[in-house]
Amino acid sequence: MIELYHIWKQYQKPHWAISDVSLEIDTGDFCFITGPSGSGKTTLLRILFREILPTEGQILIDGVNVLKIPDHKINKLRRLMGIVFQDFRLMFHQSVFANVAIPLQITGLPDKEIRRRVFNSLRQVNLHHKMWEYPARLSYGEQQRVAIARAIVNRPKILLADEPTGNLDPELAFEIMSIFKEINEQGATVIIGSHDRELIRYFGHKIFFLQKGKIIGQEMKP
Ligand SMILES: Nc1ncnc2c1ncn2[C@@H]1O[C@H](COP(=O)(O)OP(=O)(O)OP(=O)(O)O)[C@@H](O)[C@H]1O
Ligand SMILES: [Mg+2]
Repeated sequence: MIELYHIWKQYQKPHWAISDVSLEIDTGDFCFITGPSGSGKTTLLRILFREILPTEGQILIDGVNVLKIPDHKINKLRRLMGIVFQDFRLMFHQSVFANVAIPLQITGLPDKEIRRRVFNSLRQVNLHHKMWEYPARLSYGEQQRVAIARAIVNRPKILLADEPTGNLDPELAFEIMSIFKEINEQGATVIIGSHDRELIRYFGHKIFFLQKGKIIGQEMKP
């Protein structure tokens, strides 16, 4: 379970990117954070990934206060998580294989196991035939799928995705959401930042509405 208590985030005074956000996400939930551009979706996801710290507030993951975890133990926390960044953050001068293998590099797994997992992960996003290609030579949607393969390669318990279907055609967007659903059905908690209303309506199980950094509503579907 993920619990956020009174999270505030200020990048620059006097503006608050996140103001007083409290929410709960159950293990195995498939949820969306939605809201207009600038409402704080990316900020909230980056805070959850502990990439940035909130100015105020507490976050508990399965009862552990993750903001109190010392820096040298953060990698252990991150290993529980996968993230698809809004801008993908791929290494363009390295192969698709190398990009997807990144989260496995610090695990100390044997090379053979790394190759097996990378291949399986790429197969899940239907991109295994491009394993030795370079991201620069892939289409936008293919690059997005590399980013997703990298996020799921270490079988994260928590999968975060920031606008994972932005700029994709509806068919591919649907396909990618179906991949997330599959991962969710395998037990992962999935949290997606998106403003694609149609997809949210179709896939959303729990929906948080953000506006100007505040939660202005919450919806649960049975
Ligand atoms: N690195 C930063 N430095 C300063 N201000 C920032 C930074 N990142 C975001 N902000 C500000 O914080 C607010 C929330 O931004 P954020 O990127 O979280 O919104 P978003 O909901 O993800 O928007 P979008 O839908 O456009 O991706 C905005 O007002 C933005 O200008
Ligand atoms: Mg964003």
